[in-house]
Amino acid sequence: MKKFLIAASILSANFAFLGKEISNVIKSGADIIHFDVMDNHYVPNLTIGPSVLKSLRDYGIKSIIDIHLMTNPVDNLIVDFANAGADIISFHPENSLHIDRSISLIKEYGCKAGLAFNPSTSLNYLDYIINKLDIILIMSVNPGFGGQKFISYIFNKIRKVKKIINKNQKTILLEVDGGININNINQIAVLGVNIFVMGSAIFKSSLSYNKTIKNIKNSIK
Ligand code: DX5
Ligand code: ZN
Repeated sequence: MKKFLIAASILSANFAFLGKEISNVIKSGADIIHFDVMDNHYVPNLTIGPSVLKSLRDYGIKSIIDIHLMTNPVDNLIVDFANAGADIISFHPENSLHIDRSISLIKEYGCKAGLAFNPSTSLNYLDYIINKLDIILIMSVNPGFGGQKFISYIFNKIRKVKKIINKNQKTILLEVDGGININNINQIAVLGVNIFVMGSAIFKSSLSYNKTIKNIKNSIK
């Protein structure tokens, strides 16, 4: 598996041409497509549902689709997104009454399971279920919007969660989401992060997607 994976967050894409936008960023070198699913309840914003994923699969999108559920509740959407063609599904632990059961549900439907942590959410949620996880998603902005600034105390949180992961035999990928750009991605990569979620740095770039993603990858030493 590649050391660093770029997950393009479609939150900042042009939704009028979503299928084309996704094909273009994948052709330009993005490794994963990140869906920020928001319900205007858990976060103050509303985005897309499983039917959009189904349409994109029917349109011919074959890339890895990484669903980030910023919704409450999560269990019904886990089933619907898995059935619509998701590969990875992550949710915020505070949005499930039975975290272990929600993780099992993701795996039962054949997807990789991730737990997503807001900037100030404690890593204690990992205590009893870390061995069931494939991915840990660390938010480096408060969830809801693209284009925000990377919260600097998250560097220490990344170090802390990397130590927890390294103590585990199981391979667990570390994903960071929010405020990542060409100027800070190397500082994040050296901490052992595997997946970089980037929305505005890609979709709002003044350069072509090709050049943008190439520059991003070249800035990781
Ligand atoms: C916040 C979203 C964003 C998005 C990335 O809820 O999850 O973090 O994916 O957006 P940028 O890269 O524009 O910060
Ligand atoms: Zn996200």
